[in-house]
Amino acid sequence: MEYESNSSTWDGVYYYPHLFGGIMLTAALLGLSTSYFGGIMGFPTLPYMLPYLRNLQKKKGGKKRIRVYMDGCFDLMHYGHANALRQAKALGDELVVGLVSDEEIVTNKGPPVLSMEERLALVSGLKWVDEVIANAPYAITEDFMNRLFNEHKIDYIIHGDDPCLLPDGSDAYALAKKVGRYKQIKRTEGVSSTDIVGRILASMDDKEVCQVPKESSQNGEPAEMNKNAENLLKSKHASNFLPTSRRIVQFSNAKGPGPNARVVYIDGAFDLFHAGHVEILKSARQLGDFLLVGIYTDQIVSEQRGAHFPLMHLHERSLGVLACRYVDEVIIGAPWEITKDMITTFNISLVVHGTVSESKSSLNGELDPYSVPKSMGIFRMIESPKNITTTSVAQRIKANHEIYEKRNAKKEASEKKFYEERKYISGD
Ligand SMILES: *[C@@H]1O[C@H](CO)[C@@H](O)[C@H](O)[C@H]1NC(C)=O
Ligand SMILES: *[C@@H]1O[C@H](CO)[C@@H](O)[C@H](O)[C@H]1NC(C)=O
Repeated sequence: MEYESNSSTWDGVYYYPHLFGGIMLTAALLGLSTSYFGGIMGFPTLPYMLPYLRNLQKKKGGKKRIRVYMDGCFDLMHYGHANALRQAKALGDELVVGLVSDEEIVTNKGPPVLSMEERLALVSGLKWVDEVIANAPYAITEDFMNRLFNEHKIDYIIHGDDPCLLPDGSDAYALAKKVGRYKQIKRTEGVSSTDIVGRILASMDDKEVCQVPKESSQNGEPAEMNKNAENLLKSKHASNFLPTSRRIVQFSNAKGPGPNARVVYIDGAFDLFHAGHVEILKSARQLGDFLLVGIYTDQIVSEQRGAHFPLMHLHERSLGVLACRYVDEVIIGAPWEITKDMITTFNISLVVHGTVSESKSSLNGELDPYSVPKSMGIFRMIESPKNITTTSVAQRIKANHEIYEKRNAKKEASEKKFYEERKYISGD
């Protein structure tokens, strides 16, 4: 890989006054600590944000731990973001993520779909993320960069290979490059937030298109035209993501349950992976030693939620779930109904389901998908910590669709260009 520099002998060469004060705080120091990091810090395998542990590790290994930093808005977090953070983490030992504040996103891009609190829950739920700095600036300033180096002990700032320019047209990372503390990752994933907003808006259009035939057939217009329009919309927002076994391996823990492990099972669509998913997975994981997540097939989701769902297809949804730190294993394409055979095959001790869920069909007198675990006495309803759902996220976008449509039209053009100019990239 062609990094700008591999120099790591920078210690002490970079010093600026007025480093302290201001708004920079790691999320652990904010009031948010009880809701997210309280839980994360209680998680047995995660020595995050405990500086003395870092020192211990440093001494034990005899080598300084490399801290890398990457920032972003992470609005409508998806596996593309997760993959970028995975790549960033691979360039160091500890990954610190800067989350751009709501205010800065409003100023630079228009209103975010998810609030800071929701974005924080999502990003800190990723298995590659060690620390989060809330309210990072949109464009990296010299002052902020110095804080990263001095206060947060960052060794390298990481950014994707797309150019990032400051308002005056200069390279935002010029300074970090100059001092040899910049590293680059390749943008590889065939998905973006723009693309996802597009899919949600298209699903809204689909509905309108579907409603037209009744009226138009009265007017004698062919319903086929509407079908064509529908297909056009669908193809415009078709996924560019090509699932490979390599990517799935990179995202997975590659570890089975240990001997005598208590396996907990939870299933769902996990469409548009959001803060509510992170929280329910965390709750489920705490009930055992190994969390197995069943992800419904696209067909099941369509049957349950309507033709324009799922918004993300099975492999995309699987990567989103695998990126979550509370998940040990996934079933890519789980059945709707839990069978005795599944319970035996995976040695499932407990099946859980959240109180907040998208689908009501199991309550409508249809076959209960949990009847087997219920009859075995291993089923439990658990309180969903958040009431956010895929539908409620989609509704926020629909409610503001004029703003998002305008923003998307602009961004789609630049992304089209990105895909057209894309070249072969070796590596991850
Ligand atoms: C199956 O799970 C139980 C815990 O519920 C555990 O005691 C048992 O050892 C597991 N079986 C195997 C073969 O790992
Ligand atoms: C979700 O929960 C919040 C706080 O618990 C509440 O204010 C809000 O009204 C709830 N929303 C829905 C749709 O139930």
